Amino acid sequence: MKKIVYFNQIFFLTFLLISVGSITSIGDCNLIRDIIAEDVQSIALINQVQNITNKTEIFLPDPISVDMSYRTAIMTRCSVRRFNYFESIEDEKLSTILWVAYGIRDDGSRTVHSFEGSHSTVIYVFRDDAVYTYHPKNHSLILFQTGNLRRIVNWQHIAPIQIGLVWDSNKNDDANYSSIELGEISQDIYLMANAIGLGIVTSGLTGFDEIDLPEHHIGRIVMPLGYPQTEPVFEYNPNLISFLPRVQDVDIDLKTVIEGRKIKTSFNGDVDKKDLGQLLWASYGFSYYLDITDITTNEVERHRTVPSASCVYPLVYFAITSNGIFRYVPHVLHLNPYSDNQFYSSNWDLPVLSFLIPVGGGDFREEIAQASSQYDIASAPLIIVSTLQFSSPSDIQWYWYFEAGASANNVMLESTLLNFHAGMVKPIDMQSINSLLRLYAGYLPLLIIPVGE
Ligand SMILES: Cc1cc2nc3c(=O)[nH]c(=O)nc-3n(C[C@H](O)[C@H](O)[C@H](O)COP(=O)(O)O)c2cc1C
Repeated sequence: MKKIVYFNQIFFLTFLLISVGSITSIGDCNLIRDIIAEDVQSIALINQVQNITNKTEIFLPDPISVDMSYRTAIMTRCSVRRFNYFESIEDEKLSTILWVAYGIRDDGSRTVHSFEGSHSTVIYVFRDDAVYTYHPKNHSLILFQTGNLRRIVNWQHIAPIQIGLVWDSNKNDDANYSSIELGEISQDIYLMANAIGLGIVTSGLTGFDEIDLPEHHIGRIVMPLGYPQTEPVFEYNPNLISFLPRVQDVDIDLKTVIEGRKIKTSFNGDVDKKDLGQLLWASYGFSYYLDITDITTNEVERHRTVPSASCVYPLVYFAITSNGIFRYVPHVLHLNPYSDNQFYSSNWDLPVLSFLIPVGGGDFREEIAQASSQYDIASAPLIIVSTLQFSSPSDIQWYWYFEAGASANNVMLESTLLNFHAGMVKPIDMQSINSLLRLYAGYLPLLIIPVGE
């Protein structure tokens, strides 16, 4: 294992040295020279890598307060891929990111909802000196391994901190459903990083294979964290026409919303059209802002409320209420709901017009509930179903459950803001759900989200 690491480092250094010749800016040359110097040091460290048996624990400071409203944080969510490598992140900010990701709330529960009762994620934090695991109970970092492994775990994006999201298969043995929680965590990290001036991106292609993790720890996602090289710039640019009620900003920050999230298993009350529009927008809608940051650093002009691997956005959302079943169309470009050609539309600056297509009249909540893992959701005034409209290789199927988890997390936060609560339920009878939603074979229901009072 050490040899592989060493070989890769040499390969990486050679690659960097060759790259220096092709880079003209003096700033970039200096950066690369410093990175090479740092790499030489890290090779020395990696050669002495040792698993620490006497655990070293670093207690994190309290999370900081946040100024940005929760809805602005979603509206301006974006992926950042270039970071100021030598600008370190203050401990308070790292603490805030880790708390929102997987920390403990004032009532003793976690910041993210546990899908089916198991918190099956371990967060690894890759810093310049060592790799740590985050321990929510003590809000601390425990040393896992010394050495600078940041560019091994993430060869795509160079950043001062790399956050590794790892699936603990001893706690949940389902490769797809365990990714729901990873998606929730990643979404909280995106929103908080945004709110406190840091950049972040989800990386599904990682170097976890080269890191000696315990056998039941399966590396899934790496999120590089740092100050962006180019500050993202947004311009408020909503549509002139809107078929669904417009989403309004509310002066409540993400931390407050997360602390206020309620978990209940019984649902009742009413959800009006305005609430419905906002909940669906949070699940998979488009931002009202245009990203006018330099196009070379970010090619997506109108971001959506969640990230998607390769910008594919293959999920389709349905709302089931006492009045019927409705398909959510987040963009007028997706007008033909039965076409698979939804890809890349978020790269284009076209007016976003979202609306609902009635799929069936009548109350089908009971039928949906019967086809789910929790019958008592039948009384929920709103049931949202996410489905996958895409046949993907099975080894990356978990990507789409991850996306559904990020989206469900938004619905939960939005529900809290609207004084509702939401849950997450497994679809069991796929055939019945597909037939109720009038979907042909090939669609896969991923997650059911009941919402109510
Ligand atoms: C599961 C998943 C895997 C991803 N993997 C990568 C990756 O390996 N490299 C990368 O640069 N971006 C990756 N992304 C980020 C997407 O490319 C990004 O979300 C998408 O292009 C939309 O851009 P936005 O997040 O800026 O709106 C991934 C996103 C998800 C959800």
